[in-house]
Amino acid sequence: MINTVAISEGIHYVGVNDRETHLFENLWPLDKGVSYNAYLINDEKVAIIDTVKSTKMDAFIEKVGSIIGDKKVDYLIINHMEPDHSGAIKAVKERYPEVTIVGNKKTFDLIESFYGGVRNLHIINDGDELDLGKHQLKFYLTPMVHWPETMMTYEVNEKVLFSADAFGGFGTLDGGIFDDEVNLEFYTDEIRRYYSNIVGKYGMMVQKALNKLTDAGIDLKVIAPGHGPVWRNNPSCILDYYDRWSKAETEEGVVIVYGSMYGNTQKMADFIARNLSEKGIKNIRIYDSSKTHPSYIISDIWRFKGLILGSCAYNTGLFPSMETLIHKIQNSQLKNRYVGIFGTASWSGGGVSTLQKFIEDIKWQQVGPTIEANSSPKDKDFKGCEVIAWEMAE
Ligand code: FEO
Repeated sequence: MINTVAISEGIHYVGVNDRETHLFENLWPLDKGVSYNAYLINDEKVAIIDTVKSTKMDAFIEKVGSIIGDKKVDYLIINHMEPDHSGAIKAVKERYPEVTIVGNKKTFDLIESFYGGVRNLHIINDGDELDLGKHQLKFYLTPMVHWPETMMTYEVNEKVLFSADAFGGFGTLDGGIFDDEVNLEFYTDEIRRYYSNIVGKYGMMVQKALNKLTDAGIDLKVIAPGHGPVWRNNPSCILDYYDRWSKAETEEGVVIVYGSMYGNTQKMADFIARNLSEKGIKNIRIYDSSKTHPSYIISDIWRFKGLILGSCAYNTGLFPSMETLIHKIQNSQLKNRYVGIFGTASWSGGGVSTLQKFIEDIKWQQVGPTIEANSSPKDKDFKGCEVIAWEMAE
């Protein structure tokens, strides 16, 4: 027997879990897996909203069939074309050849370039509606959250918003589907990791999308994203998170990240952390950039107000894993952070000076002096680290 879950009258969850893929987009660790959420509206006309990654198409098609039996699917609505959601378009076409694919102009440009030869298309514009019988759909274009064709579909009578990547996150849905069925602490971390690494760069477009929904005055009873839990108990919780994150708002706390070959730069990181603690900072996270994947570090940098970066010199430049991290930070266009820098150099330098240039380029406010110890930290270097901690804690 196949598990299917009704999320509202006539609306079903037909998504699947992926516990096999190691890296999302072949980049981001999936140690807690991911769900590809898709939905089915079983009405006079049957509509599927989004599909799943191609590796999961069989399970998805089976779920659809278990709900509608011999009925045909009339519409396949594509909110987002990234292949974790569009990977089973061809499978739907094969199983239900008469299906009409619904999307905006940009959706169809991407369908053609990804899959080619997919016919029977219905192009919608912003605000267009589609009547399924008892259910009415309305489409909102929300470009660049986080691809150009992204849109959201709103079911008017049940007040369900199908929001694609927006409001979603990593982590499989292990039994519980809804926000009131799961431990939200676990999912909040994974939603922030998804947001900060994948959607966060487009914070302005997220704000635009949120304003559009507000201006349209739509009543949201359920938010049904493309990944992670469906929000039926407290949708305003995820709306608030998105609003805060896309405005780069922060919580009190400091992230310290270092690159250290033989422990000297690490020693300075621990010293700074102790001083922060003595000044009353409770949220302190220290990361070794060689060990922790940048996506987890970026997620915490997105969360907290302070960042302290440390690096030894390596081949006249920055330590490689720190280089990867600062490239990612720069690319994310994150704003409004306080930053301190420290590190070590034995014969050439290049680590701390690269960090200095980075914070000048990104225009974040530096706290404390720039500290570069000669091979290993001495009293004067620790004193400088103390000042970084004090100023950061102010
Ligand atoms: Fe979940 Fe942008 O794909």
